[in-house]
Amino acid sequence: MQKMGLNDVREAYLKFFESKEHLRLESFSLVPKNDKSLLLINAGMAPLKPYFTGLQTPPRKRITTCQKCVRTGDIENVGKTSRHATFFEMLGNFSFGDYFKNEVIPWAWEFITEVLNLPKDKLYVTIYLDDDEAYEIWTSKTDVNPKHIFRLGKEDNFWEHGVGPCGPCSEIHFYKDSGEIISAEDFKEKSDLDRAVEFWNLVFTQFDKDEDGNYNRLDFPNIDTGMGLERMATIMQGVDTIFEVDTISTILHEVSKLSGVKYGDDSKKDVSLRIITDHVRSVTFMISDGILPSNEGRGYVLRRLLRRAARHGRILGIKGSFLNKIVDTVIKCSGKAYPELEEKYEYIKKVILLEEERFGETIDLGMDILYSYIDELEKNAEKTLSGEKAFKLYDTYGFPLELTQEILEEKLMKVDIEGFNEEMNRQRERARAAREESTYMGTDVKVLDTISSDIETKFSGYDKLELSSKVKVIIKDDKFINSINEGDRGIIVTEETPFYAEMGGQVGDRGIIFNDNFEAVVEDCKKNIGGKTVHFIEVTKGTLNIEEIVTLKVDKVRREKISKNHSATHMLHAALRLVLGDHVHQSGSFVDEDKLRFDFTHFASVTPEEIKRVEEIVNSKVMELYSVNTDEMSLDEARETGAMALFDEKYGEKVRVVKMSDFSVELCGGTHIENVGKIGIFKIVSENGIAAGIRRIEAVTGEKALEYMERKSEILKDISEIIKCSEKDIINKLNQINVELKDKDKEISQLKLKLATGSEDDILKNVKEIKSIKVATAVLKNVDSNSLRNLGDKIKDKIGSGLVVLGSKEGDKVQFLAMATKDVVAKGIHCGNIIKEIAKIAGGGGGGRPDMAQAGGKLPEKLNEAINEVQNIVEKLVK
Ligand code: ALA
Repeated sequence: MQKMGLNDVREAYLKFFESKEHLRLESFSLVPKNDKSLLLINAGMAPLKPYFTGLQTPPRKRITTCQKCVRTGDIENVGKTSRHATFFEMLGNFSFGDYFKNEVIPWAWEFITEVLNLPKDKLYVTIYLDDDEAYEIWTSKTDVNPKHIFRLGKEDNFWEHGVGPCGPCSEIHFYKDSGEIISAEDFKEKSDLDRAVEFWNLVFTQFDKDEDGNYNRLDFPNIDTGMGLERMATIMQGVDTIFEVDTISTILHEVSKLSGVKYGDDSKKDVSLRIITDHVRSVTFMISDGILPSNEGRGYVLRRLLRRAARHGRILGIKGSFLNKIVDTVIKCSGKAYPELEEKYEYIKKVILLEEERFGETIDLGMDILYSYIDELEKNAEKTLSGEKAFKLYDTYGFPLELTQEILEEKLMKVDIEGFNEEMNRQRERARAAREESTYMGTDVKVLDTISSDIETKFSGYDKLELSSKVKVIIKDDKFINSINEGDRGIIVTEETPFYAEMGGQVGDRGIIFNDNFEAVVEDCKKNIGGKTVHFIEVTKGTLNIEEIVTLKVDKVRREKISKNHSATHMLHAALRLVLGDHVHQSGSFVDEDKLRFDFTHFASVTPEEIKRVEEIVNSKVMELYSVNTDEMSLDEARETGAMALFDEKYGEKVRVVKMSDFSVELCGGTHIENVGKIGIFKIVSENGIAAGIRRIEAVTGEKALEYMERKSEILKDISEIIKCSEKDIINKLNQINVELKDKDKEISQLKLKLATGSEDDILKNVKEIKSIKVATAVLKNVDSNSLRNLGDKIKDKIGSGLVVLGSKEGDKVQFLAMATKDVVAKGIHCGNIIKEIAKIAGGGGGGRPDMAQAGGKLPEKLNEAINEVQNIVEKLVK
């Protein structure tokens, strides 16, 4: 047996099944499409479910893939054992109603014994208890040792997930030790000890399990197989764990180098090395599929993995951010098989770096909070931190429970784990409830989604906007019917259509459908889950019967506006990359007849200068009148042209490449204008952030852009009328108005002061003598605290010796000031105490020094009362 690298095993497998007439498809995104039952793709068959259930027609009945998968079900074990991983690749060959057990079993045997050359004496097979058919095929069509076949029960050899397609399976295992396994019991024991390793599961999906638990035999049974690539590589490389496999060990060595910790020296540190190695793989792949760290759903899974890895970096003594550096090695190992990794290299690194930095901030914040919890526990002589608090640290500050425990242990304290788990379960419940109740297919299937896959709905709308075709399906009130009448709303499907169905951010077409006896308005056009184009209509005249011929006519004016906006979206994308950099990737878009909306990755706001530059670039290309060319080609050919592919799109065998000279080349199924000159003019109307690292631009083209600019010039006109000047003088005039306003403000405050100072004489006239102390008091209006102080100083100077107490009301607030000369302070006057008492009367508080104090209050109506009280207070204070 020759050693094989992980990448070679993958290629050998896919090639082998290509030689058995399978179509090789690229791995689907980790983000499931139309499947709410699943957060992340976790098996090779998961993205193929619609082919298994017949809702979609596969591009070929035999398919083979190597699917990237993430499973976080037993994340707690990752690192602790050397076998668990959150990221793995699953090789698979699939038959959709084509071949069955008779073919798949001998092929599997041929691949492992003749291509991989595994020694036959090491191979064991398990089958489902009563699957005699499988036994018969294994023993007659392969030369597996019949003593190496064991029959196991439902939990081992029957593959099912809720209701839906399911069936018995047959697993192939490699026995690592010498000697022979002699019985099913013996086999199970060896398997539990990880000595007999299962590496390939052949599932014979021959039943459809219904709600009542009946297993109904399928007319056309399917084959679904799954081989863990990493596990197979351990066998081919004669190593014990996936962390010793060529590619993965390269990553582990990199972590080891960065941390200066050698693998194998310290079993505790090995755990951290393994966690980082595994998690950084998951994280890199998840980000390349457009997932961003967040607090919910997939984003939360990503965040958890990334933070767990970052914390283990700290445990190993790595200072600062480091995960983003390991990405290089991950990409070096897997970039050939997954070109999206190389394409998004800069972007992946940036996202990881930002999240590492963010965690760096919260971990310190969490630490402060944890210490405050510890203080509280110490004060109350308690030793257990509540689960709720530990969970808060975990949930809000990204604080792993283990870290909280570790720190508490140093203080001989612990966490109420039960309480923590309760909180965790409560959160899981919430997350589960947030996901919809689902069937095997992920969502409740509507009749619309059960349109037979035999019905063709050809789209001819790239170059035709009107054509005749036959009506194949009519749906009303979620039921298939044979005719539809005036006034009814419903759905119709025709063999061919010029109507574009909503897809890739472009809205569906509108228009009319008619014949001599019937007329209907098409309000929208979409694709059902099986990819069939369906027209949502309202019948305005007559009756339509199934199988009738109708004319379908798209609203041409609207379509053209939409196409302009779609072409402009591509140009905007290209211009943004030129101005901001290659990290800009589309993360969402919406195009209709009025505007275009484009969401993209970028980690800072876009400055007005950059916006201007982007607009200039797009408009200059519009003026260069580039023609828009569309070509169909294979995905590989498209990649060679440098076409940009999108995060979450799955492309079929043939892709459509939309090209505007060399300026923009994108894969796209949407409709476009034939020359960008038709856009006329492009104008960005807004730019803002919508999530961490995601910006949104809205823009308009053609008539809408003109309208937008027209509105702006109307506003200018209105302004010039209001401020009475010509348009060209607006800026000067506004500057001048501003200066005038400022001058007026100054004048007003001077006048206010003057008004107050004017009362100076009145105040002096009113000075009373109490216990031989001159006391000046006054109630004023609208004097701010500064002016109050100035006034106080003046009066104090004029009386030479004495006490001044002033109060002023402004709106619903009151200000007090008290000042005294040194000699009266010596006699017992204390401004701070005086102020305290009178401010209290006016609903406030304050205090100050013996010679000077200020305070505020909230009851202007009590101002007089407060000031009148001064006399009594002085009498009290001075003996
Ligand atoms: N779908 C099967 C598995 O995941 C092959 O094991």
